[in-house]
Order: sequence, then structure tokens, then C-alpha cells
Amino acid sequence: MSFPAHRPRRLRQTPAVRRLVRETHLAPSQLVLPLFVREGLTEAVPIGSMPGVMQHSLDSLRAAVTDAAAAGVGGVMLFGVPEVRDARGSGADDPRGILNVATEAVVAEVGDALVVQTDLCLDEFTDHGHCGVLADDGSVDNDATLDRYAAMGIAQARAGSAMLGLSGMMDGQVAAVRAALDGEGFIDTMILAYSAKYAGAFYGPFREAVDSQLKGDRRTYQLDPGNGREGVREALIDVDEGADIVMVKPALPYLDVLAEVRASVDVPVWAYQVSGEYAMVEAAAAHGWIDRRGAILESVTAIRRAGADAILTYWAAEVAGWLREQ
Ligand code: PBG
Repeated sequence: MSFPAHRPRRLRQTPAVRRLVRETHLAPSQLVLPLFVREGLTEAVPIGSMPGVMQHSLDSLRAAVTDAAAAGVGGVMLFGVPEVRDARGSGADDPRGILNVATEAVVAEVGDALVVQTDLCLDEFTDHGHCGVLADDGSVDNDATLDRYAAMGIAQARAGSAMLGLSGMMDGQVAAVRAALDGEGFIDTMILAYSAKYAGAFYGPFREAVDSQLKGDRRTYQLDPGNGREGVREALIDVDEGADIVMVKPALPYLDVLAEVRASVDVPVWAYQVSGEYAMVEAAAAHGWIDRRGAILESVTAIRRAGADAILTYWAAEVAGWLREQ
């Protein structure tokens, strides 16, 4: 009678042993909550394709951020939905623009209890829905867009944003915004670069959330879903340009890219569990086809395991609450 030489099951025999040998841990401080604030609202409005997520009024936004801070969430990422849009996205760098007004209000409310971050991109503010300004032929004009991002960066820093989330995928955007910030004395304002941001179908619900005007797609600036090496290249470029943190987005369909980026840079690497990832789990759970809490914790843990130091997720406050219960 011979016995198995290897018994990995020994380490799985009780909850206490499993907890002791667990490789990946989640903490509330590693979670960032994306929030939408819409100009002109007097109360929060639900987003149909993202059950549980709201377009906030200024008041309900303040309350949501206070709750997130109480749950121990590490930060919030603010997105603005303006009432009026134009070709150059004027609302983005207007100090009275909704995102800048909301940033000031939120910072006044929570101070340093968590890190207040803002989306730096033009798509919510342009009437054509692209992340940059357009050239005469209708293409997205990279270098003209950099000037807009620089102005937006300064406006957001003035409003009190601690960290700017550069999500537009223009070449040279990190260097352009860094130079603009430094030139105005905002040397401590951090840059989170959405370095490996893939063009694809998983942003669908977000487009409803921000009332996106986009027709067509973003394939001339966001990455092709088939390209892993290119994602790593983008991250290396952004670190070279001065990014403090780099990000991979979406998360679950791109865990390979996340792991590669983690191995290739020495700054923090974050991942964004996007609206489509959220909606899939919520829809399946609503049908009783999946265990909601189990699926959420498993997906967030998987993203951590693949190498994310922190995760943007619409479940941030809820997961933080669960972790504190445990
Ligand atoms: C661009 C931006 C997008 C998301 C975050 N920042 C939309 C896009 O690239 O089309 C998507 C986030 C999500 O789907 O949850 N400002």
C-alpha cells in the first residue's frame, strides 16, 4: 500500500488553516468607489443598467462619500455629467462645471478621510462623446486634446482633487498634465494613468450612466483587446512620463495584462472593474443564477491575486462593509 507523496489538501482542512495560508487578502483601503454626479439633479436617480448605482445630486453625492469614508473605502473617483455639452468640452475646465463644483463640495465634506480623485477626460463634456477634441476631418486630434487635458488638470487640482485619473488614452497625456500641474505649483497632485485601457463592449452601462453622446467607437485611441504586450508598453511609457500609479481596465477580462504590468513596473498598479463587469454579475444574481456575494468577493479577490494593489469597483462600499463584518 503506497500513500500519495503530496497532500496539498492538508492546507485546506479547516477554515482556520485556510485563513492562515490564504495568499490574497482584501482590505477596504484597497477599494476605490466610482461615483457619478449629474448637474441639475435635486435627488439621486437610479441607472437602469447598473442596479444599485445612482446618478447623484450634489447632496446625495456628499452623503455617498461620507458613507464610503465610514466604511473605510480608500478613495472615490468622481465622474461629472453636465447639463450642456459642446465640441471642446468647455464644462470640463470651467470652475463652475459640475465635476469641479462637486469635487470642492466633496473635499469640504470628507477632507483627508479618503483620497478624492477625479476622472480627467473630455467624453462626458463633449457633444460628440469622444475623449478628445476633433480635427476638421472628424478624427480625434491628439495634440490639441493635450492642451484641453492640461487645462482640465489645473481646474481639477484647484477644485481640490488629490489624484487625477487620466482615462482618455491620448499619447503624451501624462507628461502634458504633469507639466501643467507643476507649472501651476500643484507638485503634490497625483496622476493615476489609465495606461492599458481596452476598447470594447464592457463600458456599455457606463455610457448610460454618463448619458454618453458617442456614436461609433474609441478604437483609434483605446487598445485592441487582442494586444497584451501593447498594454505593458503603454504602462512603461506612462511611468516614464511621470505617472504615480498605472491602471489596467477592464479588470477581469484582462488579468493576464494586469499580471504582466505588475511584473514590469515598480509603481502601484490598479485595476478598474468596469460597468459591464458589474452589470453581468448583478443581472445573473437578479435571476437567481449566481450567488451575488460570492461572485462579487471572488471577482474582486481574483483581480487582487492577478496583481492589482487597489481596485476601482462599484461594489467598493458594500464589499468594505462585508470585510469589516468578518
Ligand atoms: C472615460 C471613461 C470611461 C469609463 C471610465 N472613464 C468610458 C469609456 O472609455 O468609454 C468606463 C468605466 C466603466 O465602464 O465602468 N471617461
